[in-house]
Amino acid sequence: MEKLLEIKNLNVGFLMGNGQIQVLNQVSLDICENEVLAVVGETGCGKSVTGSAILHLLPENAVIKGEIYYKNQEILKLTEEEFRKLRGKEIGSVPQSSVSSLDPMMRIGEQVAECVTGGERQRKSEQENIRARIWKLFSRLKLPGERKLCRAYPCQLSGGMNQRVLLSMGVITEPKLLIVDEPTKAIDWVLRKEVVEILRQMKDETKCSMMLITHDFGAARQVADRIAVMYCGQVVETGGAEEILAHPKHPYTKGLIDALPSQGFHVMEGFMPSFSQLPEGCRFAPRCGRSLERCRRQIPEMYNAGNGRQVRCFLFEESGAAYRSPCVEEAILHA
Ligand SMILES: Nc1ncnc2c1ncn2[C@@H]1O[C@H](COP(=O)(O)OP(=O)(O)O)[C@@H](O)[C@H]1O
Ligand code: SF4
Ligand SMILES: [Mg+2]
Repeated sequence: MEKLLEIKNLNVGFLMGNGQIQVLNQVSLDICENEVLAVVGETGCGKSVTGSAILHLLPENAVIKGEIYYKNQEILKLTEEEFRKLRGKEIGSVPQSSVSSLDPMMRIGEQVAECVTGGERQRKSEQENIRARIWKLFSRLKLPGERKLCRAYPCQLSGGMNQRVLLSMGVITEPKLLIVDEPTKAIDWVLRKEVVEILRQMKDETKCSMMLITHDFGAARQVADRIAVMYCGQVVETGGAEEILAHPKHPYTKGLIDALPSQGFHVMEGFMPSFSQLPEGCRFAPRCGRSLERCRRQIPEMYNAGNGRQVRCFLFEESGAAYRSPCVEEAILHA
């Protein structure tokens, strides 16, 4: 399969006061055509920052290094005007919160239409064409009363309906790549089931690729082809969704899966460290039941673990590979 998106060694820090807090560290991911990649991890591990970097939505205090290729074109360095040509038509997004993402003063129909028009006035025939597309999409997303709904304001809709309106804003332009941020966060069980079903349907019907950012392994299981697990600004494991869920390799992935209610709710001990006080070696070492003496001094890199799996853990090191990595050599030097 052709790679649609390729993130190579993405580092993102934020200027804060006189210093800089480094958040993303050497994040490398890719998404092929017609593929759904779920990016999973605890709150604060850097999932949304990764999505925002792709979408050119990071704030001004962000310091970004690395490369992001979309259809083999480097997009990190594009100007805003150049990137605008890709936004919506090629790369679409569904933001995390409908409360902060929908304009409370604007009618639902106008907000969805604006995703197509970019706010520019359209001829009457084109307006009708867009309206027909919106109604069709609303009915597909099980949003009842299309006409009436278009005239409503967000506060007149339930949380679940607003969530689906957000989804419709992401897909109305039929992007090739859709970045969906936490579609199941802060919604009840019934609605969660519906949203997951809609995402599955979108995956099957539209041929778009998706980056599904979520803390919800259940949603990832039902929608994703592959999973990337993030911990504290780093990708720690990648592989096929079924494979990772059935046989997690990284101790952190295993901890996340063991904490699922279906797996007995064995909640992991400890907390993710703060980005301003990172452990010297493996970032997971203070919480890891399998940590070795060297884990506290050296930084593991991503090791191939067979079957398309990659794991950032010394337990899966190929002999000698760790010592070839400049970052590990640096860690050894400072040990
Ligand atoms: N504009 C910013 N300035 C400083 N820190 C930020 C900024 N945006 C995000 N962060 C920090 O980056 C880390 C990762 O955030 P985020 O990607 O939103 O996590 P999540 O995995 O929950 O989506 C968090 O510690 C967050 O506080
Ligand atoms: S490198 Fe060591 S501390 Fe880190 S996850 Fe693997 S075993 Fe645990
Ligand atoms: Mg987030």
